[in-house]
Amino acid sequence: MTRPVRLILGIETSCDETAAAVVERGGIVRSGVVASQDEIHAEYGGVVPELASRAHVERILPVVRRAVRDAAVSLTDIDAVAVGHRPGLIGALLVGVSAAKALAWSLGVPLIGVDHVHAHLYAPVLRPPGGADGAPSPGPVFPALGLVVSGGHTSLYRLASWRSLERLGATIDDAMGEAFDKGAAILGIPFPGGPNLDRLASIPGADDAAHRFPLSRLTPGSLDFSFSGLKTALLYAVRGVPAPGGVFVRDHSALAERERVDLAASFQRAAVGAAVLKIERALDALAARDGAACGTLLVGGGVSANSRLRRELAALAHRRSLSVLVPEARYCVDNAAMIAGLAHEFAGAGEWAGLDLQAVPTTSC
Ligand code: KG4
Ligand code: ZN
Repeated sequence: MTRPVRLILGIETSCDETAAAVVERGGIVRSGVVASQDEIHAEYGGVVPELASRAHVERILPVVRRAVRDAAVSLTDIDAVAVGHRPGLIGALLVGVSAAKALAWSLGVPLIGVDHVHAHLYAPVLRPPGGADGAPSPGPVFPALGLVVSGGHTSLYRLASWRSLERLGATIDDAMGEAFDKGAAILGIPFPGGPNLDRLASIPGADDAAHRFPLSRLTPGSLDFSFSGLKTALLYAVRGVPAPGGVFVRDHSALAERERVDLAASFQRAAVGAAVLKIERALDALAARDGAACGTLLVGGGVSANSRLRRELAALAHRRSLSVLVPEARYCVDNAAMIAGLAHEFAGAGEWAGLDLQAVPTTSC
């Protein structure tokens, strides 16, 4: 007989953040620790998988200990251990999965395996303790529309419940965060590219209409995304159209600062515009299919921190009389609170993992 699950320890190591969190009743974040590896990967301009795995090994236990201490509980108070076991870098995932299994087994509590992409959709309902009434957020009305925009994934979902997802569309090339990171590299913006490009594009006076970059629609009604055309358009705007033989005549070092700012703003406008376009299409498609307008949009993943996307989502909420739930800034990027939070839903349904839980590089949703 397992005891009622109130406190879940979540562990997340799918990419370059080593994270642990203690979440109460699926929504109140008692502690959340994220050890970023930005400084390790910065000189390579992207995440180096082997370096990420090694850093996770060094950090996982101190990070878990701190999460438990910050939550003002002891390990024996933990009712279940949850881990993001897919998708991600296999070596990185293995560190978190091994730690979670060892902890669950030694504490004699259940283990729960969570899909990281799925967990991003849960991030908007997380709350710190001591909020208005100390209670978890009321959450979405189902069926809800979900959008995950991260460095590895860009997908739209119909959620019939927290545990029942149907994928409506996904990127056919780059993920939105990846497009921001590559766009930043083209503009000579340092790692981490997405947030730095956002900051540059937000400089007062930035002209987002300086360049008319293409807004990817794909076929009429398509709920898929494509960012490669936008990336190429930015590349040509910065370096010129390549001469025969594929040689570029210049690079970002030839740009005046004002030009860089305007290019960043124009790029961000097109990328966000494409995301909003697909959300609107999905809302229309769901309304036609369900016979009623969808009342909640859940947005998660690193790019949900983007200032322009958040502004445009607020406008969309108003335009469509829609409740748009976006995470607090700290829960947009990879974190373990979203893993522990979603895991509470699985615990409620008795969906436990065995000690044979596998680390899997691909998403289940
Ligand atoms: O969800 P996440 O932390 O990791 C993955 O699961 O991929 O997302 C990281 C991605 C990176 O591509 C990063 O550049 C992007 O989110 N990102 C942003 C912003 N903050 C993070 N992209 C645009 N604007 C931002 N403010
Ligand atoms: Zn993520």
